[in-house]
Amino acid sequence: MLYFVTGTDTDSGKTLISAALLAKAQGHKCGFKPIASGCDVTEDGLRNSDALMLMAQSNMGLAYHEINPISFAPAIAPHIAASQVNIALSAQGVLDSMFHPAMVNADFALIEGAGGWRLPLGNGEYLSDTVKLLQTRLQQETSTYGNSVQLTHAVTKNTTLEVILVVGMKLGCLNHALLTQEALLADGLSIAGWVANQVDADMAFIDDNLQSLQQMMQAPFLGYVPHLANPSAENAAGYLQLPQ
Ligand SMILES: Nc1ncnc2c1ncn2[C@@H]1O[C@H](COP(=O)(O)OP(=O)(O)O)[C@@H](O)[C@H]1O
Ligand SMILES: [Mg+2]
Repeated sequence: MLYFVTGTDTDSGKTLISAALLAKAQGHKCGFKPIASGCDVTEDGLRNSDALMLMAQSNMGLAYHEINPISFAPAIAPHIAASQVNIALSAQGVLDSMFHPAMVNADFALIEGAGGWRLPLGNGEYLSDTVKLLQTRLQQETSTYGNSVQLTHAVTKNTTLEVILVVGMKLGCLNHALLTQEALLADGLSIAGWVANQVDADMAFIDDNLQSLQQMMQAPFLGYVPHLANPSAENAAGYLQLPQ
């Protein structure tokens, strides 16, 4: 299956939960981080910690630039980072940069967004538009392979895309979670599941907030990850179930 992982906000736990889900998944698996702002300058080029964390849980042998094709050094909104270096982002351009056959072939692949669901790319386009284009592209890939005599099970694994929503549990997250759910459904996306991830160690009435969310969210609940002293993929994985 192929998933797009979005969150209620930046720092909601998208990377931690993505890495944890990859750690749990079996078979050929790969995580992608198409757009990363906030990168280290290294001898090999720009490197982003989210992409490296996903890469560490992936096993399909992809190169760094295949996992993270678009990277900017400053940790600022990507379309602003892009304009600083005279690059214009577009929904189709991002798709062309990020699309990889592993998204179709993997037993379990996920794509971590950037920021929240409605991340601006500039010129009135959003990363959510790229996700919608990807849905269409997946259908085309499938029909192309479907017409081919070389049809194999491997190339037709992921014909659809679903979204996983990470709710960063902190004061204000109910509104963010509900608005994101509304936007996802209005955009015609299917939500494979949502995760309650306690980013705020001291969130008051966590149980009551969790209960309220469970009543209001329409997608399957994949688990509650408490605030972890050591937020590693392996530690978070124990609190999660993979989407069905
Ligand atoms: N459940 C948690 N317990 C402790 N720290 C967490 C938890 N979830 C996320 N964090 C920390 O919060 C920060 C933001 O999480 P991250 O997964 O990078 O968010 P995002 O990818 O949405 O920006 C990271 O430093 C991460 O280690
Ligand atoms: Mg991240």
